Amino acid sequence: MTEISPPLPRAFVIGDPIDHSRSPLIHRHWLDVAGIAGSYDPVHVRPGELAGFVAALRDGSAGFTGGNVTIPHKQAIAELVDQIDDTATQIGAVNTLWLDQGRLCATNTDSHGFRANLDDRAPGWDQGKTALVLGAGGASRAIVHALLARKFTSIRIVNRTVDRARELADRFGQAVSGHRMEELSELLTGADLFVNTTSLGMGGSAVPEIDFTIMTDGALVTDIVYVPLVTPIMAMAAAQGLATADGLGMLLHQAVPGFAKWFGVTPACTDELRRLVIDDMGVGR
Ligand code: ATR
Repeated sequence: MTEISPPLPRAFVIGDPIDHSRSPLIHRHWLDVAGIAGSYDPVHVRPGELAGFVAALRDGSAGFTGGNVTIPHKQAIAELVDQIDDTATQIGAVNTLWLDQGRLCATNTDSHGFRANLDDRAPGWDQGKTALVLGAGGASRAIVHALLARKFTSIRIVNRTVDRARELADRFGQAVSGHRMEELSELLTGADLFVNTTSLGMGGSAVPEIDFTIMTDGALVTDIVYVPLVTPIMAMAAAQGLATADGLGMLLHQAVPGFAKWFGVTPACTDELRRLVIDDMGVGR
């Protein structure tokens, strides 16, 4: 008699384009380490194909257990799932999907990834109460969510387009305020944490001179951009004697909850994995 074995767990990352995604590298490493005979594959899904992909996912014909969602589908997918948790609703974007008895469920793990990275690289980072967040785009929303989850009571969003900063602040309530760039120095005075969520300084663009020494003693400067690993803003802060933490671990840690749901094992963000991703990016250190 032939034994029928259960289907291998299969996960995906969808996006358009999808070639640049480092998620397959991360998840395949974890599959290897855990000895799980599953798979994690990039799938190129264009905006017009999203509804069809979701239908095949939900009815099981695609054969997937779940997966990740990246640009440009992180908002659109929210309208197509059966259940979306509070975190993804508050952030306004989805990056992780899984099937639960035929129901398609969604969350966003970026807030978790940000917190877990700093827990790992800068323990005690959340002892302060005042944070300055530079930028008011999609990434910034996840950071504000994370800071509120860790009980920061004054979160100051500074953005080139002040209306976006104010809109974001209104979305999150009293502890969060929106400001213009000109107020940066004043708002940084006495802050415990600085988070860059913009691409400022990337590709050789000019970075304004920021005096980080006006922050509290023991303040931390972090960047969620991780290419290059030491961003111009982090280099500036380090040169002024501030503690810094890079954002690569956020990419690794945001992947943990998805892997655990699809494959039933909670994976570790080891130095070996970090090195693997750094080598793949070719950014050194
Ligand atoms: P993401 O989803 O990655 O956050 P985004 O929504 O395009 O991307 O947001 C990019 C953020 O970087 C915004 O806060 C943007 O400022 P604006 O809202 O004024 O566009 C900010 N940003 C990008 N380039 C910048 C620059 N050269 N100077 C200042 N801010 C910049």
